[in-house]
Amino acid sequence: MATVLVTGGTGYIGSHTVVELQEAGFEVVIIDNFSNSNREVLDGIASITGKKPMFEEVDLRDRKATYGVFEKYPGIGAIVHFAAFKAVGESVEKPLAYYENNLLSLIHLLEAMKRYGVNNFLFSSSCTVYGEPEQLPVTEDAPVKKASSPYGNTKQISEEILQDAMVPNPEFRVICLRYFNPIGAHPSAKIGELPVGIPNNLVPFITQTAIGIRDQLNVFGDDYNTPDGSAIRDYINVVDLARAHVAAIGRLLDGKQRSPFEVFNLGTGKGLSVFEIIHAFEKVTGVKIRYRVTNRREGDVEQVWADTGLANRELDWKAEKHIEETLLSAWNWEKFLHAKKSTG
Ligand code: UFG
Repeated sequence: MATVLVTGGTGYIGSHTVVELQEAGFEVVIIDNFSNSNREVLDGIASITGKKPMFEEVDLRDRKATYGVFEKYPGIGAIVHFAAFKAVGESVEKPLAYYENNLLSLIHLLEAMKRYGVNNFLFSSSCTVYGEPEQLPVTEDAPVKKASSPYGNTKQISEEILQDAMVPNPEFRVICLRYFNPIGAHPSAKIGELPVGIPNNLVPFITQTAIGIRDQLNVFGDDYNTPDGSAIRDYINVVDLARAHVAAIGRLLDGKQRSPFEVFNLGTGKGLSVFEIIHAFEKVTGVKIRYRVTNRREGDVEQVWADTGLANRELDWKAEKHIEETLLSAWNWEKFLHAKKSTG
């Protein structure tokens, strides 16, 4: 089996994908600089799969160090590129850091691909490229809207860079995966999301409120034009999401693409409101969430969920896990983190 280079492989989605790749039989080399993760994640991965992935602590902004990884591992057959800054609000405060990190990393990887003859590239993109969609569910053909944050813009620009880079490099093969809202953790509770500081995202905020780290959840708006007034998203289990990456890597390596540049939506195809998530969490865990309704959060869209037909057909993949199982996995992970902290 081919060796797959996973950048950002100790991050949230990256670590779950490494597990699924290893379990599918791939050799994995991780590059990470721990800017939003830590070394212990490698132990978590190994305790699930029984095998520690190969690992290089490299900052992809460093071109020479990036090339060094390709020299050390000449068998790399494909790259999964997760490594990026990802906080919407922070990107408004530090736009240049976002452009520098997210774009330079991509450029250095593409240069390395050319130099070392690696042709297969899987890119971690986002449904944020659709903005507030005109039609639901959102298909891959929906127009890309002007990004509402520098973070979102880095995803759009990255997709454009990839397409432009393919023109003089017709041997390149690229798949962009546009994630909807990844949530949950591995069922073993050995890896999961590690938010730094106050979580921006709904589910980590809910689990931290449930465990007592946060006093209460702010529900950002109940005056949207939705059945219960709260905003609607397509929440996908991170393990389901990770498995889609294994399918996409197989498609690249087996030469099964219909065109050298492809885009797939990864979601469940079903939208859930903030209140529905709160209630499902309470039901499955038996823990009540204190919340209050506040103003809408700037930049939030009202509702978005995926048309997953293309991914279902072409990747032969489908999100399988139910929302309650997913929320329970997030809760088990929060409890694991809490127990670890308590025992020092
Ligand atoms: N929400 C709350 N309270 C919170 C956190 C979130 O009510 O404390 C609500 C949001 O307003 C939104 C929903 O919960 O309606 C989901 O919010 P998240 O922050 O979890 O996710 P987003 O849909 O806002 O974020 C996603 C991706 C980003 C992407 C963004 C673009 O995680 O990568 O969409 O809008 F940039």
